[in-house]
Amino acid sequence: MLIVANWKAYVDTPAKAKALTACGKRLVARAKHTIVLAPSFPYLGLIIGGRKGKLAYGAQDVSLSTGGAATGEVTAVTLAKLSVTYVIVGHSERRAMGEVDEIVREKVQRALANGLIPILCIGERERDMDARYLAFIRGQLDAIFASLSPRERAKIVVAYEPVWAIGKSAAEAITAADLAEMVLYIRKVLTSYFPVRSAQKTRILYGGSVEPSNIRDLAVGSGVDGFLIGHASADVSTFTALVKQLS
Ligand code: PGA
Repeated sequence: MLIVANWKAYVDTPAKAKALTACGKRLVARAKHTIVLAPSFPYLGLIIGGRKGKLAYGAQDVSLSTGGAATGEVTAVTLAKLSVTYVIVGHSERRAMGEVDEIVREKVQRALANGLIPILCIGERERDMDARYLAFIRGQLDAIFASLSPRERAKIVVAYEPVWAIGKSAAEAITAADLAEMVLYIRKVLTSYFPVRSAQKTRILYGGSVEPSNIRDLAVGSGVDGFLIGHASADVSTFTALVKQLS
């Protein structure tokens, strides 16, 4: 599985960043999963030590800028040169700050053009009885996939993160049955963009209050290829417990 630790802004001291990195290294040494550490920008430089087996590094965002006179921006090329492999794009916390689909699409393209693997976040704000949220999810996928070449599409990792489930507790996360339905639905949408067999290959992650108490349930039988983990990834003992649940 692909386990992405989105530290968000929870990790705000070098000591904590280093402790979590050491934890990630210990865990990949024993587990068969790939773990991606996604710290805030300054800590990327601090913790990156080349790709070590199944430990990889990710950024939480990427700039639209291609470089030069762009104060405060962190470009895709800057990240790529730092041995970053993944970049989270279109996280709901960034969309809430005004990042619309057009911006997300450009960021995905910047990432791909520089050899980074985009982790494209999608997810409805709420669920309605008429299942309009399904059309919303389709719209978010269409907005990105329609403009990409087949080779580019094949590189994208999709992270399904229903906004209503983010930053809560395991009890408020999605159920395994509902997740299984969403994974099927996302794969169905992707068949518009891939030959059927390739649509099965796109990695789909789930994010939204994944904790040690629910990760196993969510992993078994839902069809997800991994998880994007927020608050539970920012604490050494919780993250350790969570990864152990998968082994
Ligand atoms: P959470 O965050 O695990 O804290 O809900 C997940 C995410 O937003 O990526």
